[in-house]
Amino acid sequence: MRVWNDDLQGLAFGGDYNPEQWPREVWDEDIELMREAGVNLVSVGIFSWATIEPREGEFHWEWLDEIINKLHAGGIGVCLATATASPPPWLTRKHPEILPQREDGTVLYQGGRQSYAISSRIYRRYATAMASRMAQRYASHPAVRLWHIDNEIGCHVPQDYSDSAIPAFRTWLADRYGDIDALNDAWGTAFWSQRYGSFDHVLPPRSAPTYANPTQQLDFMRFNSDAGLSYYADLTAAVRAVNPSIPATTNFMCTTGNKGVDYFAWGPHMSVVSNDHYTRAHDPERHIELAFAADLTRGTAHGAPWLLMEHSSSAVNWQHVNRAKDPGEMLRNSLAHVARGADGTLFFQWRASRAGAEKFHSALVPHAGTDSQVWNNTVELGRCLRALAPVKGSRVVSSAALVFDYAAWWGLELDSHPNNTLSYPDLVLEWYKALWYEGIGVDIVTPGSDLSGYDLVIAPNLYVTDPDATANLAGVAEGGGVFATTWFSGIVDANDHIILGGYPGAFREVLGIRVEEFNPLQPGETHGVTLDAEDAEDAEDAEDAEDAEDPEDAEDAEAGDAGALADGDAQASPDEPRTSDATASTWTERLDVRGAQARGVLTDGVLTGYPAVTENTLDSGGHAWYVATDLPLTNKRALVRTWARQAGVAPVVRAPEGVEAVVRHGDGEDFLFLLNHTEAPATVEASGTDLLSGHAGESHTLPPGAVAVLHTRTATPEPETAED
Ligand code: GAL
Repeated sequence: MRVWNDDLQGLAFGGDYNPEQWPREVWDEDIELMREAGVNLVSVGIFSWATIEPREGEFHWEWLDEIINKLHAGGIGVCLATATASPPPWLTRKHPEILPQREDGTVLYQGGRQSYAISSRIYRRYATAMASRMAQRYASHPAVRLWHIDNEIGCHVPQDYSDSAIPAFRTWLADRYGDIDALNDAWGTAFWSQRYGSFDHVLPPRSAPTYANPTQQLDFMRFNSDAGLSYYADLTAAVRAVNPSIPATTNFMCTTGNKGVDYFAWGPHMSVVSNDHYTRAHDPERHIELAFAADLTRGTAHGAPWLLMEHSSSAVNWQHVNRAKDPGEMLRNSLAHVARGADGTLFFQWRASRAGAEKFHSALVPHAGTDSQVWNNTVELGRCLRALAPVKGSRVVSSAALVFDYAAWWGLELDSHPNNTLSYPDLVLEWYKALWYEGIGVDIVTPGSDLSGYDLVIAPNLYVTDPDATANLAGVAEGGGVFATTWFSGIVDANDHIILGGYPGAFREVLGIRVEEFNPLQPGETHGVTLDAEDAEDAEDAEDAEDAEDPEDAEDAEAGDAGALADGDAQASPDEPRTSDATASTWTERLDVRGAQARGVLTDGVLTGYPAVTENTLDSGGHAWYVATDLPLTNKRALVRTWARQAGVAPVVRAPEGVEAVVRHGDGEDFLFLLNHTEAPATVEASGTDLLSGHAGESHTLPPGAVAVLHTRTATPEPETAED
């Protein structure tokens, strides 16, 4: 099979292109403007089924032939869709049984998009036939670089509860459990008279008088993720049958776009992982959530370069208040994705629609036309991406990892829990923020990933576990590294059954603790904590010690560090612990240490004196940390500094606060991306030639909001990746 971007010079640049929304006069201008901006890849045909086949069996290919030929003549590659992302109206009228349903039985009708049930055999038959027709007509066209299978599968209908789901869910359950007794054990159906006599009695977890069986809900999430993947596989097989050499992908929605898909499971099935990401307009730290999403996407690609399939040039149309991007923000967003492994940045969409629900969504060509800031930004981004051509294929390598797990997400957010206000991605993101501010780059991994390349692994709120994952994670500390986890982790097994004997059952031993009872806090309720972790001064002292030329300075700095767990050997002095004030919120626990040491203690409330943070130092020299409450960002940062120091994990470069620094390693060369997210100029001492400005030197000053990409030749060969 061809590599998706072998024929592209440098990084991919472009977006969704919907020429069917425009008269032909506009098409030539489109191609001309694409060439002016340096666009080299566009996604065509995503929502084109009803234009291609407005009535059953009546096909209109001429327009698509024409535009694909024009794009090719203009030197622009095509990421060709299967045109299945929205069934045409005649199909849902003929087969209303393909419509999806919500858990309360609400039918999701034609008139929006994606109005199909993922498990409907009828829809599958029509969709694979359509994909196959697209392939028969275009799979040997030289413009076609990549298949765009459907679109954001499961985006609007992450779980379908319609009758189409019933036989498919039963078959999936029979495969998983073999016999109905095994299902009854797994689902704990002795509870509330739920015992099933046969797989034929099982339904999707539709709206019920009260809480549906939690394991049934968890399995239904698993089933839907698998159903989406099998749909992807069927469509991919249909296009491959015609021409096996064209690579295929479907656009993911990491992080929070789609809770319904386990993208780690889907990643290996993509020729190239692609992702859609939209920033959260209301969030002043949206660039950190972007970085998190980009790292998660790279995680689902197992470290390989990936493709940003969609983001926005400015505002979207679907948030509460759709703010325009600030000057420079679109470029920073684009290059932040590239910094974290994207080999291209595409947009939704090329030209802003003038009709339909997305007419207020920004595009590369705005309603105002080319006499606009947005268009200038488009041209400038094209210039930057061309300058970054050598980055293609290089990789990000980290020695720290953050665990993200879809089963834990699904499980943690089930109902009837001690605290029912939790968002798993937000909880993980808060730790990611602490790492981001400390400049500690991470790979995002699953509990089952190969962790042998990591010195520090943090697994926040990992509610669901299994014995292999538990052993894998504990193995980090047992092998001499640092493992940290937080409250409501290791609580249940894969069937959502409590691991008995005191919480957190899965990690009790490695953490050297035992939790007897949870005591979640009401919204706004907080308690004091004294925290024994590295403060900012300690970190600076230690850095000064490293840099100090005067040995006395170095000694002073190290002395300051010792009380704050500066390195693996240093312990807090029992007489004079180096503590700072912290605040516990959301959650507390009645926790006893069983071998671990308390590093944070609750100072008021009913659990006064109980540990809130613990550290277990193992014979291997490794450390297993537990954080039993939610702490503010500043305290999380202090802990992250301590863990990083213990693990010997350092930032790639010392950069001022708010300057993002990430390295992509190529073959004998490095690319240091520096993104100044602050409103002040920032100077970074690092050598290299900025591929964007041409400035070469040992020190680079970035104006507010600016980006630099420092290119250096390295003597050493390309570093090993986790995959190797
Ligand atoms: C994506 C979708 C695009 C467009 C975009 C708007 O979820 O794939 O078709 O709707 O959102 O932000």
